Amino acid sequence: MNVIKCRNYEELSQKAAAIIAETVKQKPDAVLGLATGGTPEGVYKELVRMHRTEGLSFQNVSTINLDEYAGLSPEDKNSYHYYMNTHLFAHIDSRKDRHFLPDGQADDLDAECERYDRLAASLGGTDIQLLGIGHNGHIGFNEPGTPFQSRTHVVELDEETRQANARYFSSIDQVPKKAVTMGIETILSGKRILIMASGKSKAQAVKQLLDGRISESFPASALHLHPDVTVLIDEEAAG
Ligand code: F6R
Repeated sequence: MNVIKCRNYEELSQKAAAIIAETVKQKPDAVLGLATGGTPEGVYKELVRMHRTEGLSFQNVSTINLDEYAGLSPEDKNSYHYYMNTHLFAHIDSRKDRHFLPDGQADDLDAECERYDRLAASLGGTDIQLLGIGHNGHIGFNEPGTPFQSRTHVVELDEETRQANARYFSSIDQVPKKAVTMGIETILSGKRILIMASGKSKAQAVKQLLDGRISESFPASALHLHPDVTVLIDEEAAG
């Protein structure tokens, strides 16, 4: 695990964006595994800036997202479809038909998980997978206790995760109880992994990640089983 400490959130966002931009420059048809949430917002902002002012092109990339809430339509402001459109897709030149997210509204969510997993495999795995980390160590929506050999599946969100994400909804009751997420094995099939953590509230999770103990009770510890992981943290998250 290669750990990069940054001064603050801005530097962390710029470093992560620079790594993604480098991947795209070296391989214009790269498969980018993308995350949502507060942490990657600065990365997407920086990638949009690089597209606008430095001519970074995403024309041939494919993007595949980690997860989506069950039951939310792509137009719902809290859906991860909406998040990706607003923060990234609407502002760059990537192709709409090369953006992949799970369909949280599928009638048969288990069949949707199988479809999504086949899709991830057919893309040949991600060239780079961007990840945030939950306070409880979740990656994607793989909550503590998820088997490391899990593929895309439906999850019951932990109360802690629902509380953490309630800031985007009008009330906690509005936060979906289920989601579709890539599994840990699906995430680990990426060629390179970039996990980011920012702010004091992530310090405990970062400490646990870096102490090196591997356990299904702390999902992010599965990253120790991957040969190419970069951990980007700011001073506050470094604790
Ligand atoms: C989002 C995702 C989650 C978040 C995690 C941290 O697609 O998969 O694992 O990365 O919950 O969220 P933030 O960045 O909001 O602290």
